[in-house]
This record gives sequence, C-alpha cells and structure tokens, in this order.
Amino acid sequence: MIETDFILSTVDASNTTDGSVTWRAPSNIALVKYWGKRDIQLPENTSISFTLDACFTVTTLAYTLKKDRPAQPDSASQDFNVTFYFEDKKKDDFKPKIFTFFKRIEQFVPFLKDFNFVIKSRNSFPHSSGIASSASSMSALALCIMSLEKEMNSGITDEYFYKKASFLARLGSGSACRSIIGDVNVWGNHNEIEGSSNIYGINFPYRFHKNFKNYQDTILVVDEGEKQISSSVGHQLMFNHPFAKQRFEQANENISKISKVLQSGDLKAFIAIVESEALSLHAMMMTSNPYFILMKPNTLKIIHKIWNFRAKSGSNICFTLDAGANVHVLFPENEKESVNNFILNELIQFCQENHYICDRIGKGAEQLSI
Ligand code: PMV
Repeated sequence: MIETDFILSTVDASNTTDGSVTWRAPSNIALVKYWGKRDIQLPENTSISFTLDACFTVTTLAYTLKKDRPAQPDSASQDFNVTFYFEDKKKDDFKPKIFTFFKRIEQFVPFLKDFNFVIKSRNSFPHSSGIASSASSMSALALCIMSLEKEMNSGITDEYFYKKASFLARLGSGSACRSIIGDVNVWGNHNEIEGSSNIYGINFPYRFHKNFKNYQDTILVVDEGEKQISSSVGHQLMFNHPFAKQRFEQANENISKISKVLQSGDLKAFIAIVESEALSLHAMMMTSNPYFILMKPNTLKIIHKIWNFRAKSGSNICFTLDAGANVHVLFPENEKESVNNFILNELIQFCQENHYICDRIGKGAEQLSI
C-alpha cells in the first residue's frame, strides 16, 4: 500500500452520532533500533521490536459533531477543537503536540475539524518513570481515530484499519507504528521481510521460535527524570553524522540476522545482536555533533553485572536500552525464577527508588468497552 491509499476522499460526518471509543495500546522495545529519519517520519533503516504487555496507554476519544459547522463543510475554515485530560487532569500543555499530529494526519482523516473532541489518556506506568510513552499514546490515539473513521466508513477491512492506524501512529511518533498489532513488529522496507514498508509497521511475517514465547522484559528504572536530549533531536543529529551510512547498513544487516534468529531460536545469536544494537544506538549519540550521553553510571554497573552473571551461570539474560538510562533486561520465560532472583539481589540497588517493572511480550492493542 502506498500513502495515497490512506487518503479518505468521500466521507460525510454529518450522520455520525455523538459517542466515544477507547483503546489500550502497548509500548514496545526495539531489538534493532530506529535512529535517524528523513522527510516526514520515514526511517533511515528497518527496525524490529517486541510489543510489550504491562506498559500501555489507555485513551478514550469522545466526539460530538460541531453544531456550528457551515452547511457546506469547508474544513480549511474551521479549527481543531480538543480538550485533553491526562490521568484525570486537564492538560492544555499537551495540546500543541496533538494539534501538530492532527495537522499532519488531516489529509488522511479529513473529518477531524467536524468534531469537538475530549481525549482522556492514562498510562499503566508512572508518567515520570523515564519510560517513553509516545509509542503507546500515539498508537492508542491513532486507533481511536480509526474507530471514528470506521463509524463513517463501515466497509473498511480489518487489514486496512490496522495498517492505516499504524500509518497514522507513525506520523505522531515513528516507533508508535510498531505498537498496533501482534507480538513482534517490523517497520521499514527490507528486501528479506515480506510486506515490510516505510510508511507503516507490520507484524513479523514468519513464525518465531518457541524460545521467544512469553519472552520477559524487566525494565530497570535507573533514572526517572526527563531526558536532556529528546528522541527527535537525536534523530536530527543523524543528518551529517560521520557514521550514519555505516549505522544504517549495520541495522539493515542486523535485521537479516535477527529475522533468521527469531525463526531458529538461537538465543546466543539473539543476545549478540540485541546488545550490539543497544550499544550502537548509544555510540551514535556519543559521536554526534553535539555529542551526548544518556546512560548513567548505574546503567553501566547493571550491564557489567548482567555480563558477569551470564558468564558464571550460562543464563540467556541480556540487556537492551532505549534512548535513555533505563535498562531493559530480556530473558526467556523458563529462566524467570533464577533471573528474577538475580535482579532482586543484585540489580534493584541501581534503580531509582528500587523502581522496576516486570513486563513481557504482549499481543498488541485492544479496543475496550468502557
Ligand atoms: O519513535 P521515536 O521518535 O521516539 O524514536 C524511538 C527511538 C528508539 O526508541 C531509541 C529506538 C526505537 O526503534 O524504538
């Protein structure tokens, strides 16, 4: 599918009854990282992620048709009307982000100015935990908007619904397009991943090995504060980055490798790719201009502890990082007991206020009836 397939040309909002829709959408953790983009949210390389389960956003979109709409709706003459609540508190400071998102997606969902919206959102994880919520929040909102589109256009297929939801979510936050459907998601065109696309995420199209079933991700919250450098600034710094070309090649090669590993169940090879990807991501940060470091001393202490434990015990534990100081500890379900003991005894001391979240591979977003 191409971009123009997602433009909704004939839609009449005037018969839509007022209502609301609620979606729960998960966060995701990239195994091969997206870092660097061009044009409007097009990735410079392919990325792949595990969908999470316990870390999610629940968003309700309530919509009422505007009464003062002109008889001949002329969207250009109207404004978006949004009231936004985060965790039951009215948050006007979130509105500019929503308006930027609405402006970007308006040509694909031209009914946005026909409604007054009240958006209520909450996260399962604390707002200040340093865990990025843009993936889960943008995918939840994109899914709500698609449910509204479906009200007006009931003939759309499930395939179209989820692809377009991923397409819209990507325009809000790139990695959000991998938070829509299924357990393992790929975003970015790759010649070895059938159906992959730069404009939306897809479910990993091959059967993955049982070794990865219920794979665990314990998130160690090393730093709860705001990041000094946002992801969008980080992506920008990949323009003219001295190692950009090599990095994008490396990531695309790692996609080929990890695709085979996910099918074969080779856990040692999985560990080597995933840890190398995490460190390559942070190496890009340390070698950009201006350079920056998002890891903290405790991030490194945890990494060394994980390496020691693995060497001593033969465990298949490994780590990955997103754009921050927190550590995602990944391990197979059958090692849950021993690894949890290790985490409690040796790693929790490095977390801010002993804060950690036990998560695992999830199944994707779900519509809730509230
Ligand atoms: O979706 P963004 O713009 O927040 O970028 C996400 C970047 C990483 O989390 C570091 C990597 C990834 O692929 O999710």
